[in-house]
Amino acid sequence: MDSALLWKFHCLGTLCVILTAICGAYASYNIGVGIADTTGPVAEVVFMGYARPEQKGSGLHLRTFSRAFIIDDGVQRFVFVSVDSAMIGHGVRLAVLKKLEARFDDTYTETNVMISGTHTHSAPGGYMMDVLFDLTTFGFVKESFNAIVNGITKSIERAHDAVVPGRIFVTKGELMGANINRSPTAYLNNPAAERAKYEHNVDKTMIQLQFIAADDRSLGVINWFPVHPTSMNNTNKLVSSDNVGYAAILFEKTMNKNSMVGKGTFVAAFASTNLGDVSPNTEGPKCEFTGQPCSGVDTCPGNHEMCFASGPGKDMYESTSIIANKMFKKALDLWHGGTATEVTGPIRVIHQYVRMTEQTAQFYNESTKSFEEVTGCLPAMGYSFAAGTTDGPGSFSFQQGTTTSNPLWNAIRDFLASPSEEDVRCHGAKPILLATGRMVFPYSWQPQIVSTHVALLGDVIIAGVPGEFTTMAGRRLRDSIKSATLQRETREEPVVVIAGLCNTYSDYITTPEEYQIQRYEGASTIYGPHTLTIYLKHYKDLVSSILAGKSLLPGPLPPDLFLSNLISLVTPVLFDTPKWRHEFGDCLQHPVKVAGPGDTVTARFVAGHPRNNPMAGGSFLFVERLGNDETWITVATDADWETKFVWKRTSIVLGSSQAIISWTIPDDVEPGEYRLRHNGHYRYILGGIYPYQGVSKHFEVVAFGSSRRKRYYFA
Ligand SMILES: *[C@@H]1O[C@H](CO)[C@@H](O)[C@H](O)[C@H]1NC(C)=O
Ligand SMILES: *[C@@H]1O[C@H](CO)[C@@H](O)[C@H](O)[C@H]1NC(C)=O
Repeated sequence: MDSALLWKFHCLGTLCVILTAICGAYASYNIGVGIADTTGPVAEVVFMGYARPEQKGSGLHLRTFSRAFIIDDGVQRFVFVSVDSAMIGHGVRLAVLKKLEARFDDTYTETNVMISGTHTHSAPGGYMMDVLFDLTTFGFVKESFNAIVNGITKSIERAHDAVVPGRIFVTKGELMGANINRSPTAYLNNPAAERAKYEHNVDKTMIQLQFIAADDRSLGVINWFPVHPTSMNNTNKLVSSDNVGYAAILFEKTMNKNSMVGKGTFVAAFASTNLGDVSPNTEGPKCEFTGQPCSGVDTCPGNHEMCFASGPGKDMYESTSIIANKMFKKALDLWHGGTATEVTGPIRVIHQYVRMTEQTAQFYNESTKSFEEVTGCLPAMGYSFAAGTTDGPGSFSFQQGTTTSNPLWNAIRDFLASPSEEDVRCHGAKPILLATGRMVFPYSWQPQIVSTHVALLGDVIIAGVPGEFTTMAGRRLRDSIKSATLQRETREEPVVVIAGLCNTYSDYITTPEEYQIQRYEGASTIYGPHTLTIYLKHYKDLVSSILAGKSLLPGPLPPDLFLSNLISLVTPVLFDTPKWRHEFGDCLQHPVKVAGPGDTVTARFVAGHPRNNPMAGGSFLFVERLGNDETWITVATDADWETKFVWKRTSIVLGSSQAIISWTIPDDVEPGEYRLRHNGHYRYILGGIYPYQGVSKHFEVVAFGSSRRKRYYFA
């Protein structure tokens, strides 16, 4: 932007401020949206989320993306980013901000860039740096880190370059049948009077922000609906953005008619919110083999089978699709519903780092009918953390709801770091399995300083929180924030959005009452029983300050773990060799000659290791149709739901491998001549990485699938 234009914008901004003072409303905002690929190493890196070292990637189902939304009122700029990742760590945000600074000086800072993870459990990990979070990935994985940092940065740059004048609308609606509470016994420990205010033990409301250009072009949408992206379970080994990622793709495909996935101008995010105790597995927990209900602590008779939740589909793919489609349809209804109200008013942002262990707050204890002064504890994980959840049971024989400890595990724990008497007292009902706050070898295990962040867009308040709030914890936070606005005159009751898993990750936040039950979420509430009590006070203070136009001190800076000697045990790719007498890209198995809707066609290629190049912004596979002018037209890539890219090592010694590409033909397919293409890179044994490609033989796609064709021919 040249300086004259910049000056004009500045003047517009000032004019806006004056106008607002006069009429109390903005004519418009400046809005930009952008999307970029964050897919990292799709093979041989453990996924982040289920903490299961066996869950190593071996291919790709859905590419992961970062979706950025820039909103600007001429004076203040705010950036919201939703990333298809398990969470966001301080190191990731720091690296993104550094890259942005190189191009935009101080336009983008900790104060105005809020980065939220969708919490998918099916994307490669190792980018968090804190020891505990990178433990199951065998340490830091630079490829994952770079892919996420580069993707987020690129999405913000694209949004920056696309800024146009526009308007914002907000609306909400109820979505039933897409989420259940996975720790109902903990929820039931909340006061009866409080529970009576709500019909359900999870929130059913979807909140939607709509972005429309001044020329009425649709720019983008953000939807917040609480649900864990754990429809894909812990046996899945194909990278996936899960239910929320697929919902985003469905919305974008509807709006970007002729674009490939991740390439359109309209950007749709389904971002995380208070999903802490919320599961998409709507059939609820059952015993693995007998199908019987599990015990109250989610175990099965004899302990020989796992207790896990699934549904509503017949397998995890169908479940993902059903939940995604429910969210997508609700969001599209809201989009077309005509019930949205325009967001007007200034944009304001506030950010502060907080050392949780130094915080105090007042807590009113119902049973003693008195106020207590409570404090944050040094981080620690309870026994029930190791039990996992019914979305992904843990590997050891731990049970959820454990409030007593075991001498053997205590001995192992003390070998790492033993909790002090003060820690034990502070954590109350939680028997400590890992005193992570005291574990400093080889570097920090869990953060002690978190990012707290609030953005105000007119009457919409977005509270960016550094973890997973449970349903009731989220409700209390929204109420606390609303109470801060009631002290001042606002034109409308504000819409309060909890943006989950933002900026730093500090595990779960339950209510103090849920904490007493020590389900997985309570055991993972790392600053002790009053983590929430502290946040209720702190976020209320943030909102009061923002409304009063006060600025706050930045707070203590979290350590830059990048400066530690990060441990990384993931082995690099050494070399690739093709199968004997073959070249990279040779097609070893061709698709069937004729196929139709509902059929899955497959081809197998001689491949290199996908970690040689994650094909960011590109694809490992292309489904191509022969056009009328004899050129091949791409109809699907590896980012589409209908395709899968599976990678298999066939010999570790020789470094040979294969890529298996499949495409399930959709109902609306255009009949014609098709082929499958595989693109990749191989690492030459004497050094260097080189691209290769291969194509299958042609096959014919007809209007009917094989099941219907059979009926037609043989009926
Ligand atoms: C995961 O889903 C598959 C079906 O897609 C099922 O066979 C398997 O038992 C499930 N496992 C767990 C632990 O949920
Ligand atoms: C309330 O006080 C009682 C008695 O001191 C204590 O046992 C209980 O844990 C407190 N409740 C909470 C939620 O902290």
